[in-house]
Amino acid sequence: MQAAQLLELIQARRSVRRFSAQPVDDALLADILEAGRWAPSGQNNQAWRFLVVRGEALKERIAQCTKYGAVVRGAPVLIPVFIHKPSMYNEVKDHQAMGACLQNMLLMIHGLGLGGVWLGEILNQADKVRQILSLPPEYELMAVLALGWPAATNQKSQRKPMSELMLSATEP
Ligand SMILES: Cc1cc2nc3c(=O)[nH]c(=O)nc-3n(C[C@H](O)[C@H](O)[C@H](O)COP(=O)(O)O)c2cc1C
Repeated sequence: MQAAQLLELIQARRSVRRFSAQPVDDALLADILEAGRWAPSGQNNQAWRFLVVRGEALKERIAQCTKYGAVVRGAPVLIPVFIHKPSMYNEVKDHQAMGACLQNMLLMIHGLGLGGVWLGEILNQADKVRQILSLPPEYELMAVLALGWPAATNQKSQRKPMSELMLSATEP
């Protein structure tokens, strides 16, 4: 892939919150998880841990933990992503790596023609989600990715202009 194509892929990715009922093949899910696995992390620490949730009963219980319940219910697949706390070496850097991991997965979802969204609001009930998924407290929920074949894509998304983002350092 050329750099221009990579930039296009990054820019064209949108959060998708509505999905068709078409199931997602395991092979595609494996590619998404593989993209997450290959994210960079401080000291190559890889404190991320993944779950795949497809069952309707479990999805419904998770849906009740967020105001984005409709997105959760409508998604054929959820990937709750956890950090394994005993594996952490640095509070900030391990958490930064989780973001890289999640973005890798979102880009792969988009690259495969699927759609997905990073659900963060659900962290207000992170402990409840962890308990629903029968995981012990050493796992802390970082996000839930909801994904599937897109039924509707939000074409519009804006970013601040580069001029607003660029800082200038003055020489001492
Ligand atoms: C840390 C984080 C938390 C987010 N939480 C939610 C969420 O709870 N619900 C939701 O619908 N979208 C959520 N999003 C998606 C953002 O709303 C979305 O990425 C942003 O509006 C830009 O739109 P785009 O992804 O289509 O470019 C979250 C994204 C990030 C990175």
